[in-house]
Amino acid sequence: MRILVTGANGQLGNEMQVLAKENPQHIYFFTDVRELDICDEQAVRAFVTENEIDVIVNCAAYTAVDNAEDNRELCDKLNHVAPGYLARAAQSRGAAIIQVSTDYVFDGTAHIPYNEDEPTCPASVYGFTKLAGEQAVAEGCEKAVIIRTAWLYSIYGNNFVKTMMRLGRERDNLGVVFDQVGTPTYANDLASAIYAIINKGVVPGIIISAMKVSVHGMILRRQFIVWRVLSLAKYVRFIRRIIRQKLPVRPIPYWIRQRLKPLSILKSRIGKRALRVAWHY
Ligand SMILES: NC(=O)c1ccc[n+]([C@@H]2O[C@H](COP(=O)([O-])OP(=O)(O)OC[C@H]3O[C@@H](n4cnc5c(N)ncnc54)[C@H](OP(=O)(O)O)[C@@H]3O)[C@@H](O)[C@H]2O)c1
Repeated sequence: MRILVTGANGQLGNEMQVLAKENPQHIYFFTDVRELDICDEQAVRAFVTENEIDVIVNCAAYTAVDNAEDNRELCDKLNHVAPGYLARAAQSRGAAIIQVSTDYVFDGTAHIPYNEDEPTCPASVYGFTKLAGEQAVAEGCEKAVIIRTAWLYSIYGNNFVKTMMRLGRERDNLGVVFDQVGTPTYANDLASAIYAIINKGVVPGIIISAMKVSVHGMILRRQFIVWRVLSLAKYVRFIRRIIRQKLPVRPIPYWIRQRLKPLSILKSRIGKRALRVAWHY
């Protein structure tokens, strides 16, 4: 397969590059905005055609969730319009596209985890644009897989874990919302799920891939299994224990940061076993 990975310098894109070494049967085109701006429709079409791409993995996105309300146009272009360009370019070659989406397509007011069948109801610019991107991809390409994930972290790029580690070094205590709950997902696990989907053959549809529990054989694996889902404050305590920081965590109620959703737990209805059967995952 000839695989185009966009946004390859981000968290997930980097993990796709790492795992490419374990999947040498494919030919890769790792691009970020400098090599291929996904907002340039002509460039996208030309790249996909000239390089005879079979699968596009779109890791590029506007991910500054808290800034999205002030940057609606750019956010919509990157998260909605551009994925449509990629999908139509894929369709024109009979190729497949894997679009990465988010728990923000829900408003976070549910009291049970969101599965693949839940009706979507975004409540933020980021969420609306990501949902519109899902729809543009599904309408633009017959072989489209939408993967919803949440709270990505990795050694690459920026994420909540790294921010907290930095603040932990800079401050003598940390204020963290305690009533936001989610499913932290190791970007390398998600990349591995994406490779499984590609290797087994793309089955169009929406799936959830979040918190695959095995956190790279990391310390305190048992706590992850017990908690299953974590509040941000618990998550920070967990990180603090890993890096042996002594600083106290000061819980802040969610309402101070309205844009954060209280509950963003994703749980696949299909389930891990079914995913394993479908994609040998
Ligand atoms: N991070 C999370 O917690 C999270 C949670 C749920 C879902 N997701 C989704 O997962 C996917 C990957 O997230 P991530 O955390 O890996 O994102 P990321 O680290 O922000 O990476 C996105 C990459 O896209 C690049 N990019 C920006 N504009 C571009 C353009 N016009 N053309 C090509 N590339 C462009 C960025 O470059 P610059 O850095 O130079 O802008 C960056 O390298 C996204 O679809 C995101 O919505 C993320």
